[in-house]
Amino acid sequence: MSKKKIILSGMRPTGELHLGHLVGALDNWVKMQSEYNCFFMIADWHALMSEYRQPEKIKEFSLSIVADWLSCGINPEKSTVFIQSDVIEHLQLNMIFSCFTPLGWLERNPTYKEQMKEIKDKDLKTHAFLGYPVLQAADILLYKANAVPVGKDQLPHLELTREIARRFNSFYKPVFPEPEAILTESSKLLGLDNRKMSKSYNNYIALSDSPDVIKKKVESMFTDPKRVKVSDPGHPLKCNVYKYYRHFKPDIADKLEKDCKNAAIGCVEDKNRLAEILVEYLSDIRKERKRLLKDKKYLLEVLEKGAERASSVAKDTITEAKKAMKLI
Ligand code: TRP
Repeated sequence: MSKKKIILSGMRPTGELHLGHLVGALDNWVKMQSEYNCFFMIADWHALMSEYRQPEKIKEFSLSIVADWLSCGINPEKSTVFIQSDVIEHLQLNMIFSCFTPLGWLERNPTYKEQMKEIKDKDLKTHAFLGYPVLQAADILLYKANAVPVGKDQLPHLELTREIARRFNSFYKPVFPEPEAILTESSKLLGLDNRKMSKSYNNYIALSDSPDVIKKKVESMFTDPKRVKVSDPGHPLKCNVYKYYRHFKPDIADKLEKDCKNAAIGCVEDKNRLAEILVEYLSDIRKERKRLLKDKKYLLEVLEKGAERASSVAKDTITEAKKAMKLI
């Protein structure tokens, strides 16, 4: 295998991907493929930890996310694309790590505490959910990843991953690297209502949305609250629609900024044009994603090859870890 640095990242298959994923994470992943040896994983066990009352959706979302990834430019010839539960070694390493991870580390995890407070519609007081970061550490260390592109919310999990690696290395033998986070700049795009774009707020534009749906959603977007009448001068820097222009059509953003400040263009016209831009921007992705979803055989083949490649690395790591522990 090449000397390139190793990257691993994952997404939980709990819903469809949206523009926030594309601009926040996926665009970066696509770029990283040429520089790093990348592993991109569908974290279906992690999804099950919160979706265990409705597990039947996980499978469908897993395939649709893989279709999203490929249609946005993840290349399965370059990168290893696989489903976590297809590589059984994740659970083995999870078990090994669970044995020596102190409960206090998990109970103090800020992400856990926040989720316990915020998520009221699901019972997450389970054994597996407390151990969420241990499995995540196993995901990362199984491939000896040097770096993990993640959002800010995942930093505590990365810190725990490093602590777990250190504890293993000092108890037994130095087997694992201490991976760095590559912080994904949180998406510059807010949701339709100006909050963070998120499935749980239902304020997103999905990669799969049809042109009509995109138009309706863009019409509902939040703009400059100080601009009540068309003749009022706008404040584009405070306007969500303008931020979308900056990202998706930077060449006309300057002119738009001026026109908005001078009240030469109104919000409705602005939104209509933005809707067209987004429809056009997503059109290739939408077509490719549709084509891929019809070709399940191909998607399953990609995942099978991915799991094979991932397994061969994972098996070596488990052997090395067990040897270090004198278990074999
Ligand atoms: N916890 C991550 C999330 O919710 C998903 C995940 C699981 C992951 N295993 C991982 C991310 C390993 C990076 C590396 O987004």
